[in-house]
Amino acid sequence: MKATNAVTLPDGTTVGIRLADQADRDALLAGFERLSPTSRFRRFFTGIPYLSDQMVDRLTAIDQHHHVAVGVFDPTRPSDIDRPDGLGVGVGRYIVSDRDQSRAEFAVAVIDEYQGHGIGTLLLQALVLIAHQRGIETFTADVLAENHGMISVLHRFGATRVHLGSDPTELSYELAIADATAALEDHPNHPALTELADQLPT
Ligand SMILES: CC(C)(COP(=O)(O)OP(=O)(O)OC[C@H]1O[C@@H](n2cnc3c(N)ncnc32)[C@H](O)[C@@H]1OP(=O)(O)O)[C@@H](O)C(=O)NCCC(=O)NCCS
Repeated sequence: MKATNAVTLPDGTTVGIRLADQADRDALLAGFERLSPTSRFRRFFTGIPYLSDQMVDRLTAIDQHHHVAVGVFDPTRPSDIDRPDGLGVGVGRYIVSDRDQSRAEFAVAVIDEYQGHGIGTLLLQALVLIAHQRGIETFTADVLAENHGMISVLHRFGATRVHLGSDPTELSYELAIADATAALEDHPNHPALTELADQLPT
């Protein structure tokens, strides 16, 4: 298992963040169980009550290059799956576009009990720094128009809305990695997140 780095949330609590890998199948399933139907819908755009095997395969096909994922853990709560990191509270990932290696689509999910404490922001910060190190220039994300939490996070990172489809319930955003990285330079969690990015294989 990868090393966990300690980071501090705005409310002063400490959480662990580490790179996720293919062995995190059970952690992913346990986290999904802790997502409300609304959060599942906002993350997967469907009301599915469970993840299909095919979906889990896709979400755990983490190769640290094309598909990179990070997980956040609360070390003060026991893990649902008997692992030492503590309770899995959030996961973020990006998948590089097959057509254009400078672009990647990202997604994050934080279990409902832990939303609103800065974990979604933390996951995106980590993904931005990793993507920057990997030469990715742009993150893309599709977000439901009702998803004010995610839209607020995107705006904080300077993401801009792009007009792709005609469905008014689904919005597309783009985030410039260079600008987002520069804005993070003085952030208190910058050293720990840079250390995390440095753990990726070259
Ligand atoms: C969207 C999501 C990732 C945000 O994570 P989070 O840990 O709650 O986000 P943060 O605490 O870092 O900050 C979110 C911002 O949105 C606000 N916020 C958080 N949850 C919110 C909600 N349900 N409704 C409205 N605003 C919300 C926070 O107040 C904060 O805004 P502020 O900094 O202006 O005060 C999380 O709510 C989630 O996992 N939702 C379900 C899955 C999902 O929607 N994923 C996104 C698909 S790309």
